[in-house]
Amino acid sequence: MTVRFDTPTHATPLQSTGASILMCAPHHFGVDYIINPWMENQIGRTETTRAREQWDNLRGHLSACADVSLVTPEAGLPDMVFTANAGLALDGSVVVSRFQARERRAEEPLFRLWFERQGFAIAPWPEDVPFEGAGDALPDRARRLIWCGHGWRSSRQAPALLASVFGWETIGLKLVDPRFYHLDTCFCPLPGGWVMYYRAAFDEESLATIRALVPPGRRIEVGEADALAFACNAVEVEGRVFMNEASAALRAHLSAAGFIAVVTPLTEFLKAGGAAKCLTLDVTRDA
Ligand code: ARG
Repeated sequence: MTVRFDTPTHATPLQSTGASILMCAPHHFGVDYIINPWMENQIGRTETTRAREQWDNLRGHLSACADVSLVTPEAGLPDMVFTANAGLALDGSVVVSRFQARERRAEEPLFRLWFERQGFAIAPWPEDVPFEGAGDALPDRARRLIWCGHGWRSSRQAPALLASVFGWETIGLKLVDPRFYHLDTCFCPLPGGWVMYYRAAFDEESLATIRALVPPGRRIEVGEADALAFACNAVEVEGRVFMNEASAALRAHLSAAGFIAVVTPLTEFLKAGGAAKCLTLDVTRDA
């Protein structure tokens, strides 16, 4: 019997296509302090074995379609697993994060060392401008611009500085809900100009900006339940969108847009305020 199905527009057969992703094993992951609302009442409550399994599953999924590199985890840095916050890497250059969160500042030299060893050009960045990397700076290749979040962790000065470092246009979006403290928790640009986002995480002006740049037919608005399950915190590789959870409605919307939603539960990491996207950093260098 032949099973037939339509191949979504953005999806190609599973194979490594040159995308490179940085991850950090959760050996020292846990909730040891509170720097976002998700971490409240979660200190000491993560389950090591389940976290490891969930992380391994995500890594397995990604390894099937991308090259996954690893940075060595460090004891005492429970959030280092969230490599999205290592910095923003684009075309072989990187801005290493300058954490607003004091608890995470000791990660900076470790990530910097990894980028140096891989031959990335390290861009200068002012000491006093907080910037939490790809958590708050999302390249949109279809529009050749970088969507930047501010309001909780990264400075509103970051977009202008990133524009001068990378030569890409940058668009600042103000985050207003503390549960969606990094842009990647509520906003996800996808190939073909699609943008998946949760509107209540933004102020009116930012919503107007999104509407001005993304036509209605390219918007994938997610509801509150999907947003709270970190559906926007998704990693896209070759048309597959890896995420912690997705409602039937969201899967259908993604499918109609030409993507395949791949659910890979990351509930242990939600206790620290992160999911699929937070656990990865795109370190692809264009050939
Ligand atoms: N506990 C971490 C923090 O608050 C979670 C980081 C999630 N990362 C992300 N890119 N949204 O910094």
